[in-house]
Amino acid sequence: MQNREVEKFLQKLEESFQKSKFVKLTLSKPRIKQSDLKNIIISPVKLKAGLMMHFVFRYKTRDEAKNYSVEESLLLLPGFMENEFFNADMYLEGENHRLLFNRKNEAKALVQKVDTPAPLSLAHNRIKERVIETYGNIWLRELGVLNDKWQIRHEMKDKYLQINRYIELLEPELLRLESKDELKIADMGSGKGYLTFALYDFLKEKTPLKPLMYGVEFRQDLVDKCNDIAKSAGFDDLHFLKGAIEDTDIPDADVLIALHACDTATDDAIAKGIQSGASLIVCAPCCQKQVRKEMEVPENLSGILKHGILQERQAELLTDGLRAMIMEASGYKTRVFEFISTGHTPKNVMIVGRKTDSDAAGRKELLEKIRNIKQLFGIRQHYLEQLLGL
Ligand SMILES: C[S@@+](CC[C@H](N)C(=O)[O-])C[C@H]1O[C@@H](n2cnc3c(N)ncnc32)[C@H](O)[C@@H]1O
Repeated sequence: MQNREVEKFLQKLEESFQKSKFVKLTLSKPRIKQSDLKNIIISPVKLKAGLMMHFVFRYKTRDEAKNYSVEESLLLLPGFMENEFFNADMYLEGENHRLLFNRKNEAKALVQKVDTPAPLSLAHNRIKERVIETYGNIWLRELGVLNDKWQIRHEMKDKYLQINRYIELLEPELLRLESKDELKIADMGSGKGYLTFALYDFLKEKTPLKPLMYGVEFRQDLVDKCNDIAKSAGFDDLHFLKGAIEDTDIPDADVLIALHACDTATDDAIAKGIQSGASLIVCAPCCQKQVRKEMEVPENLSGILKHGILQERQAELLTDGLRAMIMEASGYKTRVFEFISTGHTPKNVMIVGRKTDSDAAGRKELLEKIRNIKQLFGIRQHYLEQLLGL
């Protein structure tokens, strides 16, 4: 028969879960010292199927994550509490509940009043809930955008806004893609993965599309961290690969993304997308050094371009303008627009190319226009042309 204290504890858990006051439950102090399972951390998670309990089983050398409905959780928990662990700590809005067992399996219950705000207190938060939901969002918490109470950290507000803006911009583009069983996406230069996770989460939870996504990144530490977070979040079809963009092929990718990949890494990524016939290419370029180094100031613009900062801007304009034209000449209809206001990041231009059926209509004229612009600014070759052999 179930211990009366365990019953009361689980009733409290169920009640607070239903009222969205449940923050976290930790089971710790294994009853068998040599046990491979060190602790279990349970938190609410919002999935397509509704609000669930996210269990992270922490073993000596690995973590395993599983989601259970509240009913399943209530069936599983007594076994863990009465047979596997001595301590259970439940964090709720305004109070913490502890259940401490001794070796005779007698349970002592403690309640501590704390100043914990409601996990859903975002309702009172200044940032309104956007496309990427925060409550129960494991990857946002693991990346440090949220605190343990699922609230946006003050210093991460801009990042959260950027993530949402990105999804809002991409949504119409993605929903226009030809419907397929699986949407293969390559995110080149995925870095810490904020935008990679966001896109995967959005597609998986809010659209009928089934994403199979790869982040490519040459920093092993970031690749490992992102793979761990993907596992914790239960994102089975999101994988991070260590590699250089220029050397990594994601065959048959439908969507190719490169956000803030440094300098010509953006060109490497665009070239990969064009060469593999991706339906959609999305990039947000950064540090346009290649063109800057070659650019000469035309005599009739010398009055304006005598200022270093304006020369920088001119080089950016040329780099990205030519990129878009080269993509057009390769059969992609392009749009160039502001990603997010410069207050949030100075790297704010986004180029989106959608593959068209017409094989580079007006290609000859376009190539001629590209040649003329380069000539005007003394540019021998844009790196993207070189990669595409134009
Ligand atoms: C500025 S971060 C941007 C990360 C992410 N895309 C975003 O926008 O939040 C650029 C990332 O690209 C990676 N990177 C740059 N050039 C690369 C290359 N040639 N191959 C693989 N990764 C690259 C860097 O290590 C870095 O993590």
